[in-house]
Amino acid sequence: MPAHRDRAFRVRFVVEQPGREIDVVVQPDDPLDGNDGEPGSLLQIALSADVPIDHACGGVGACGTCHVIVLEGEAGLAPPDATEEDQLDNVMGLTRTSRLACRAVATGAADVVVRVPSWNRNAAKEG
Ligand code: FES
Repeated sequence: MPAHRDRAFRVRFVVEQPGREIDVVVQPDDPLDGNDGEPGSLLQIALSADVPIDHACGGVGACGTCHVIVLEGEAGLAPPDATEEDQLDNVMGLTRTSRLACRAVATGAADVVVRVPSWNRNAAKEG
C-alpha cells in the first residue's frame, strides 16, 4: 500500500552523472504506483519525473543499483525494512544515510534531498 500523504512535498534528486539537480513535487493524490519499486518509493517518484536511477532488478530490492544517499530529510522516509538493510550491506560506497531508492518510501513528513551517485550510473552502462 502506498504511504498516506497529507500534503505536497518535494524530493530533490542530485544526479552526479551527468550532473544536475531535479526537483519533483509530489501531490497527495499522485498515484505513484508504477511497476518498479515499492509504491511511493523514491524510485517511483524519480521515474515518474524521468529522473535517471538505475534499477537492474526491477525494483525488488535484490541488486543495489538504485543506491542513493540521503542528504536531507531522513524524517520524510519510512525506515528501511530487513530486505533493504540486507541489500545495503552489499552496495558500493555505503554511507550512514544510504538507502535503496526502490525500497525507501516517502511519507511526506518532510522534503527530501538525495544524491544519485555516479558509480551506479556508470556500472549499469558498462554491465
Ligand atoms: S532496483 Fe534493485 S535493489 Fe533497488
